[in-house]
Amino acid sequence: MNEQATRIDRRIQAMATRLSRSLDTNMRNSFLPDATKELRRFSAAEAADLIGVSLDHLRKQFFNDKVELEVETDSRGRRSFTAEQVDTTRHIIAQDSRAKKFQYLVPGRRADDKLQILSVANFKGGAGKTTTAIHLAQKLALDGYRVLAIDLDPQGSLTSMFGLRPEIEFAEMGTVYDAMRYENPVPFNDIVRKTYFHNLNLAPAGLLLSEFETETAHALRHNLQPPFYQRLALCIADVENDYDVVVIDCPPQLGFITLSALVASTGLLVTVVPSMLDVASMAQFLQLAATLMETIADVGASPDWDFMKFLITRFEPNDGPQTQMAAFLRTMFGDDVLTQTFLKSSAVSDAGLTQQTLYEISRSDFTRQTYDRAIESINGVVSEIEALIQSAWHRKDT
Ligand SMILES: Nc1ncnc2c1ncn2[C@@H]1O[C@H](COP(=O)(O)OP(=O)(O)OP(=O)(O)O)[C@@H](O)[C@H]1O
Ligand SMILES: [Mg+2]
Repeated sequence: MNEQATRIDRRIQAMATRLSRSLDTNMRNSFLPDATKELRRFSAAEAADLIGVSLDHLRKQFFNDKVELEVETDSRGRRSFTAEQVDTTRHIIAQDSRAKKFQYLVPGRRADDKLQILSVANFKGGAGKTTTAIHLAQKLALDGYRVLAIDLDPQGSLTSMFGLRPEIEFAEMGTVYDAMRYENPVPFNDIVRKTYFHNLNLAPAGLLLSEFETETAHALRHNLQPPFYQRLALCIADVENDYDVVVIDCPPQLGFITLSALVASTGLLVTVVPSMLDVASMAQFLQLAATLMETIADVGASPDWDFMKFLITRFEPNDGPQTQMAAFLRTMFGDDVLTQTFLKSSAVSDAGLTQQTLYEISRSDFTRQTYDRAIESINGVVSEIEALIQSAWHRKDT
């Protein structure tokens, strides 16, 4: 390397270190005292909503001592629930044998239901993949599913949203790469960690994961087994009994990593911002995906998707060209486009600045209308996806 190159190299290294330290401080200041994130509490009305019963019903359960839980109460007698308490209450109500219909309040897998593995993908950067993946994973967890979020993007954006710092905490080990790599892989469960969200675990990512792309090229030449497209599926199979739903956040490219996710999945969500450039890029993504999947199918690994849906993200209904593009997508793909859209909202991007989601921020930080509009939009999206999950499990009774 010549001298100038070395100088530039050092300069970039110095900038990286400075930036990473400063981000670290920023994170610590946001989440004092110990830089770990914690989930807020939920009001009784929110808890009732998450459980799927009326507020009145929930109150009666407590009044009649059916639910014996130490729930925090303020001076005016208003209860506030942790996510875990919401879930415990859900299970207690569901077990009430005299009210059979309540057993359906616990929405997860039963008997022979197949684990649902949903990939959020598209190779266009900034298409809202990570934002969708984290909101989906969190809301499913709040709704009572046991969820595993897998970060498959070496950028580690999803991992950062959980208050972790990939470039510091996972520089050497601890990511999904350790379990997927060809040499001395560790058991997948060793890298899965609990999060501050009840019912939600995370398989983190970090820059090292990009090694998987290069190593796979080598592995293909030397016919190393198992092949790349089975490696993630095998990892997930190892922990299959612990979860109802797996949500995978894919990187903005269609390499071996994304392909392994597509093969492992039971459902695919392609997020798309309804703009000309994004839709054109998505057309390329689909074409390439089809070709690559065909090649993999030739060697006997055809994915078994229950559904593949497009989700319109960062949608601005008042923007003429965007509405036209959204209408175009619906004409082209009909039912394959989810009816609900994820609206563009300053509540989402502002929350994102401090690595938070709509489920973590407090409603009082925004004008009521801004917050409500945003949360109604994402709740609508998640509930449509939940219906797809339930239908993959052939549930008629929900
Ligand atoms: N509904 C939304 N409203 C407002 N801002 C949004 C919305 N969805 C995503 N954003 C913002 O857009 C940016 C890109 O979103 P995101 O990181 O989810 O995209 P991505 O597809 O995961 O990107 P990448 O391809 O880099 O992984 C982020 O800053 C995010 O806060
Ligand atoms: Mg992303």
